[in-house]
Amino acid sequence: MTTIQPHGGKLINRVVNGEEREHLLAQAASLQSIRINTWTISDLDLIGVGAFSPLSGFMNEENYRSVVDRMRLADGTVWSIPITLSVDPVQAELLSTGEQVALVGELNDVIYGIIHIDSVYTVDHAYEAKQVFKTDDTAHPGVQKLLERSNIYVGGDITVLNRPQPEKFREFYYDPAETRQIFAEKNWRTVVGFQTRNPVHRAHEYIQKSAMEIVDALFLNPLVGETKSDDVPANVRMKSYVALLENYYPQDRTFLGVFPAAMRYAGPREAIFHAMVRKNFGCTHFIVGRDHAGVGDYYGTYEAQEIFSNFTSEELGITLLFFEHSFFCTTCGNMASSKTCPHPKEDHLTLSGTKVRALLRDGICPPPEFSRPVVAKILIEGMAEQVTT
Ligand code: ADX
Repeated sequence: MTTIQPHGGKLINRVVNGEEREHLLAQAASLQSIRINTWTISDLDLIGVGAFSPLSGFMNEENYRSVVDRMRLADGTVWSIPITLSVDPVQAELLSTGEQVALVGELNDVIYGIIHIDSVYTVDHAYEAKQVFKTDDTAHPGVQKLLERSNIYVGGDITVLNRPQPEKFREFYYDPAETRQIFAEKNWRTVVGFQTRNPVHRAHEYIQKSAMEIVDALFLNPLVGETKSDDVPANVRMKSYVALLENYYPQDRTFLGVFPAAMRYAGPREAIFHAMVRKNFGCTHFIVGRDHAGVGDYYGTYEAQEIFSNFTSEELGITLLFFEHSFFCTTCGNMASSKTCPHPKEDHLTLSGTKVRALLRDGICPPPEFSRPVVAKILIEGMAEQVTT
């Protein structure tokens, strides 16, 4: 069975093993090194295994500027989020094009890989923020992260020598080559990818299942990399996904695997990035609902859907499934959206994230029309543990 083409046509693999790895590790030990944090380690690894295909390294200046200005790589391929490596200005003075540098974990001295430098360049963070996040407001969590970094970037192809070792829920880590193979073995011709940084509530379930009515299977692919501190921790979410799938989803038409990337909170631009990555994991379809990857009031409710109209379906290569804001309607007696429900707002059960968090913190389950009790129970336990640890 043929699977969907990766973005750019070829699944990148920059991970080396065996003798070649031993040889390069020995070589890397004598190279100059750049210290990298958890976020950059996850980017490096995701490039290495092809999740960010066609990227084969951190962006050089040409690709960076092209992505920031027009949401395309220099060769025209759709790409919306800069994937970059920053270095402090003192070290930047010592780096030159053509050189190879070891990428070393700042906390553990592990040599994660090597970069083959093809450009060292200075960027304007305020400009990058406005282009990518549509704001340079320092209260925006993505902008905050951006401003913490140096504005000198190093670009070039990478080679991965050590993979980051997940501490928790290791069994849910799959590389794109593996998910592609699994989907093919299961004979799934069409698979819809679902991105989330939250527990799956009834609105998520509703849009997932609406999509499942028209495709062969669901790939529930929660992001488990760095998120902002008030998002529900990934280990708690994972427990809730497992329980939900076991109790309410057909086992033979769902697959759970994590997306170990950092959350950028870049709304519309991140929706494009999320879709391209899921294509690399083998999804033929991708769900974008209301305010995808949004935070605060920075983006319009459907901006993350509208942005896709900048591209042709051929260049996107994955089918987008757009969903309206969904809710439980007390008069309909079921989940709905403005597309299917004629009743006024007062009939709709909507709870803000803040309200839900407050309920859970007090040990109270939100109404079952908002969240399945099996999920709510796990979230309450998770919150209680956080308080006591
Ligand atoms: S995020 O990663 O996009 O920030 P979130 O969990 O908030 O994660 O949403 C996951 C997906 O569900 C996104 O595509 C989002 O647009 C969609 N979504 C979330 N809540 C709703 C809702 N009430 N109605 C429709 N779509 C929703």
